[in-house]
Amino acid sequence: MNETKRWYITNDQSVNKNIIEEAADVLRTGSTVAFPTETVYGLGADATSEKAVAKIFEAKGRPQDNPLIAHVATKEQLQRLVKDVPEYVDKLIEAFAPGPITFVLPSNGTCADNVTAGLSTVGVRIPDHPIAQQLLKACDIPVAAPSANLSGKPSPTTAEHVWEDLQGKIAGLVDGGATGVGVESTVIDCTQEMPIILRPGGITKEQLEDVVDRVMVDPALANDQEKPKAPGMKYTHYSPEVPLWVVKGSVDHIKSIIGKEIKAGKRVGVLASTKIADQLDINPTISLGENLQEVAANLYDGLRKFKQSDVDLIICQAFSEEGIGQAIMNRLRKAATLYIDE
Ligand code: TXA
Ligand code: MG
Repeated sequence: MNETKRWYITNDQSVNKNIIEEAADVLRTGSTVAFPTETVYGLGADATSEKAVAKIFEAKGRPQDNPLIAHVATKEQLQRLVKDVPEYVDKLIEAFAPGPITFVLPSNGTCADNVTAGLSTVGVRIPDHPIAQQLLKACDIPVAAPSANLSGKPSPTTAEHVWEDLQGKIAGLVDGGATGVGVESTVIDCTQEMPIILRPGGITKEQLEDVVDRVMVDPALANDQEKPKAPGMKYTHYSPEVPLWVVKGSVDHIKSIIGKEIKAGKRVGVLASTKIADQLDINPTISLGENLQEVAANLYDGLRKFKQSDVDLIICQAFSEEGIGQAIMNRLRKAATLYIDE
């Protein structure tokens, strides 16, 4: 492949309608299209076609044993891909779908084998982004879509990120501006008596607990020795161009670590909340926002912005693990070359 078509979403609904129709056609005919969701951009292909799905793995350089999430527009379409849906899934769908949540359920075989990486289960998600919704409705097929980044890099939260990674490797990109949530969906194993969080994400554990009696967490999330149940969770991920250190503790502690590295001749770039950034007062700093929601939305862009030409090391503060902080810290730990505790 050499040319990637880039469609720009506008304020004109009739223009957008044509874009969606064209992009849906490309998907239906077995090619790849990147599109915005409320979490991150996804790289889509017809989930029922092994050949189409293979193009996703090739473009991303993704390991073959890592299953993809099938995206659909409605609950009815979700039900067409799975069997044995436990009652608690109905409650979760009612509360959170469409939204940043992925249900891992027994597959009925509709999705191609390379979507599920040969597992008996399939991850299904109903995204809550107008463009994703319109596109899925227009093409009327389940669309397999991992995050639209090169494997190992931070997920894309803008069309520019996708372009940087995949231009020339995919058939199309629907440019709908920045996504909202900024971290990926919460992946939940729904094959057991209770839901188990395999990957923390846009829907928090606290939110889930408001709807179902008990929520388990894959022990591998807290312990490096355990093998994660979501195959993708074992890979190095979200890596910026330069080494990343995550530092937990007081402003003084973070400041002293940065100071030492600068003294040793390193060019250090800082990622921190607006408040901590002001107190650290280091140049260059990328301020990630006032609260955890904003930090989640800006995190991957921040990780991508520091280039080898500017800095030798990124130092990022550790964040609270409450709410969406769980997803933020999960991604930061995976991206980090070093985690420094208090
Ligand atoms: O927000 C998101 O979920 C984004 C947007 C594009 O929807 N997608 C996304 O896909 O993050 P991806 O492929 O980057 O991550 C999917 C994760 C991986 O960790 C994968 O191993 C896990 O979900 N997964 C998918 N199917 C699974 C299954 N059947 N069983 C266990 N884990 C599964
Ligand atoms: Mg990904």
